[in-house]
Amino acid sequence: MSKLPPPALSALHAFLLFTFFLTVSSDFTSDVDLTWGGQRGQISDGGRLLQLSLDKASGAGFQSKHEYLYGKIDMQIKLVPGNSAGTVTAYYLSSQGPTHDEIDFEFLGNETGQPYILHTNVFTQGKGNREQQFYLWFDPRADFHTYSILWNQQQIIFSVDGTPIRVFRNAQGVGIPYPKDQPMRLYSSLWNADDWATRGGLIKTDWTHAPFIASYRGFGADACVWSSGRSLCSATKARWWAQSLDSNGAQKLKWVQKNYMIYNYCRDTKRFPQGPPKECSLSGI
Ligand SMILES: *[C@@H]1O[C@H](CO)[C@@H](O)[C@H](O)[C@H]1NC(C)=O
Repeated sequence: MSKLPPPALSALHAFLLFTFFLTVSSDFTSDVDLTWGGQRGQISDGGRLLQLSLDKASGAGFQSKHEYLYGKIDMQIKLVPGNSAGTVTAYYLSSQGPTHDEIDFEFLGNETGQPYILHTNVFTQGKGNREQQFYLWFDPRADFHTYSILWNQQQIIFSVDGTPIRVFRNAQGVGIPYPKDQPMRLYSSLWNADDWATRGGLIKTDWTHAPFIASYRGFGADACVWSSGRSLCSATKARWWAQSLDSNGAQKLKWVQKNYMIYNYCRDTKRFPQGPPKECSLSGI
């Protein structure tokens, strides 16, 4: 009997595979657990929309069902409209335990018409203190925008609508720990932080505007899923596994850092009178 040639991957087959990966990752019912806040976390529209609400009694939060070790995580978020002063919407990856790794986006609310602050941080081996803060070039309350974390062996890239805003490079070579062996879960929460969030705590949450609501759509985890001590990667991994900034990305990063960065720990000489932390001398930080 002659051997049959392997079946060709038809265009239709390829299309189905592709859409499978896209659609499977946008049903909140199967991708996340609402973890606290009771009825303040709601999934609707057939799993496509998730909303967290905050009132005087409590905020709310959710987490991904899976843990990941490397990947590209995307989420569309529409932040609390109107007067969101005092509220914080956090969206981050984190591992467990005292020497945990963490990659943070935190959105600090503001009074109507005043800008949100996008606060970022990176923890490695339980140590953070690597804050960078930005204004955005749009009003994040008006619409959904995509906030992404690309995490591979070379670097972590934070981006907003595909525009890189921050890069944390793997600098193990100069003794900076890099998140590389602890799987991380995605977490998000909406809570009251009016003791520090808005103008350093000056502006308090105005509870007459409660409930405050943050909305989520389009969660995508093109990532290596941690399962019984192993990292299983999706078939589309190639798209992000070796990705670093190209010259266009580097240019956009520069544009954001020049025009929208409002705080950079690397330039905080009051905080680091001995000179900035070691990783700051690497380009792009
Ligand atoms: C809120 O608005 C004030 C005034 O424009 C600004 O200084 C501050 O950075 C804004 N954001 C936060 C989160 O405080």
